[in-house]
Amino acid sequence: MGNRNINAGTNHHIYLIGFMGSGKSTIAGYLHREYGMEQVEMDEQIVMEEGRSIGDIFAREGEEYFRTLETELLKRLQEKENVVVSCGGGTAMRECNVEEMKRKGKIVLLSASPETVYERVRVSHDRPLLEGNMNVEYIKELMDARRPKYEAAADIIVSTDGRSAEEICREIMEQVG
Ligand code: S3P
Repeated sequence: MGNRNINAGTNHHIYLIGFMGSGKSTIAGYLHREYGMEQVEMDEQIVMEEGRSIGDIFAREGEEYFRTLETELLKRLQEKENVVVSCGGGTAMRECNVEEMKRKGKIVLLSASPETVYERVRVSHDRPLLEGNMNVEYIKELMDARRPKYEAAADIIVSTDGRSAEEICREIMEQVG
């Protein structure tokens, strides 16, 4: 592990929010490896705890059930320290989730253009909201609808288009570290 700046002077969490394919998991992995933060992938954690895929949870229980799992997980994460939390793309849509995140850390919105997102997610099949809607137009429409809530939740906004993980993480740590 490159421990260039362990803990970076923080004892609060960093919550990465943003649209599907905005780079949350990549950036969380980098902050884990290079800055020694514990990493929690909300989607992965929920899949592990439920023992089934997100597609399955959406199909059998509905989206609201999944959203409640996200809220409960965020509450449990309050007990930890210095975690980088890679949120699901919809986590910041619930006001109570944003309040939970603000109590414990800083919220970083990763932004990306619809074209970039499309390139990053087009071959994957683990996002129920994009199944059957895998095109730039739909991504743009959903992104535009969500943008006000993303931006209202964010302490800082970091663009990811055409930038390296290193560059993005440096900017994040300068601003919140
Ligand atoms: C969702 C994004 C997904 C996952 C679920 C719903 C969303 O996470 O939580 O499919 O509502 O935007 P990623 O942003 O990690 O793909």
